[in-house]
Amino acid sequence: MLQELQSGPLTSAQKTQLRVLATAAAEHSYSPYSRFRVGAAMLLTDGTTVTGCNVENCSYRLTSCAEQGAIARAVAEHGPGIRLRAVAVANLNHAASMPCGACRQTLTEFGDDATLILYPGEGGKPEETTLGELLPHAFRLEFLEPK
Ligand code: THU
Repeated sequence: MLQELQSGPLTSAQKTQLRVLATAAAEHSYSPYSRFRVGAAMLLTDGTTVTGCNVENCSYRLTSCAEQGAIARAVAEHGPGIRLRAVAVANLNHAASMPCGACRQTLTEFGDDATLILYPGEGGKPEETTLGELLPHAFRLEFLEPK
């Protein structure tokens, strides 16, 4: 179903499917320290989906967020040309969670202002926004290559 419409706004069924994939990915979370189980599911512009979960470490700062794991996996599986159409974040803690600041920058590398971000708000209520809303005035690759 996610493969059906590869441009334009996602249908509500596509959004639901991406949230379901993110929730399923959170089942694999390795989070013995925070016990905050996060999953991410990404819809790439070629119609494929890639998921990830958070992976913590006893050296706490080495923790990898679900979004970062999904990006690394997407590049490994699909190559450096991946582009993000939509990203869903979910957790199994019945909590609100949206991409952290570091993840916003990581996602910006492969997305644009219009990339759809689906996340749970208060009480797990499904919410959505865009990457441009989450990280305005982002630092971008093109700044490293001024014209
Ligand atoms: N976490 C994510 O996986 N994604 C985010 O965007 C926010 C935070 C994880 C990191 C850590 O394992 C746990 O949630 C608590 O911060």
